[in-house]
Amino acid sequence: MANAKLITLTDPRSPASEAFRTLRTNIMFSSVENPITTLTVSSPAQGEGKSTLIANMAVTFAQGGNKTILVDCDLRRPSQHEIWDVENERGLTTMILEDAAISSPPLVETEVDNLQLLPSGPVPSNPADIISSQRMNEVIGVLKARANYVLFDSPPVLAATDAALLASKTDGVLLVIRAGHTRRDQAARARQALERVHVRIVGAVLSNAPREDSGEYYGL
Ligand SMILES: Nc1ncnc2c1ncn2[C@@H]1O[C@H](COP(=O)(O)OP(=O)(O)OP(=O)(O)O)[C@@H](O)[C@H]1O
Ligand SMILES: [Mg+2]
Repeated sequence: MANAKLITLTDPRSPASEAFRTLRTNIMFSSVENPITTLTVSSPAQGEGKSTLIANMAVTFAQGGNKTILVDCDLRRPSQHEIWDVENERGLTTMILEDAAISSPPLVETEVDNLQLLPSGPVPSNPADIISSQRMNEVIGVLKARANYVLFDSPPVLAATDAALLASKTDGVLLVIRAGHTRRDQAARARQALERVHVRIVGAVLSNAPREDSGEYYGL
């Protein structure tokens, strides 16, 4: 039985699942000139629903017949291995450290066709150095070659430089804004931090909104 957080699996006909399908369409067709194949999901602060949202996005992308890899690039507080109930002994940090893992990445098959998970692997002491490394570019290249879409979970933008560093290596960032939780000044500061490093902000998603608005997507 899938984790209750994976509403796209537990209740595919719900309005929330429908909102995820709309989000998928918006992202896939957001720009014809610069199509998005690698995407970072982040939010201004902690606990705004990033990891839950990206897991459901990944399910929806895969259900659309796209080979999708979900990467847990929150090397501070990883949670995808918990959402998917898998081990976290090998993952992204293994690919950084072991040459052999570059040619055979420790991808985990999920219960969803077309969807593979790359857990974070053991949490390192220097996440920002890892994300900014040349080796990380190589890892992203290897994953891109294996999928149609690679989606990266990340820490909050305002907590560390990790998310902005990562986002600048991907085709764009989607920001999660939590209704009644994210402060306006935090959203503005997060946007500035991303624009400073020339990251393409693909849009913002309102999470935990009252039902009528749930999962609403705002292009920026
Ligand atoms: N749309 C939602 N509605 C209600 N609860 C939610 C929603 N999305 C996430 N949650 C709950 O809020 C908590 C935080 O969610 P999640 O772990 O996805 O956030 P996060 O932004 O990834 O947090 P962190 O900054 O710690 O990585 C979890 O307990 C999750 O179950
Ligand atoms: Mg998270």
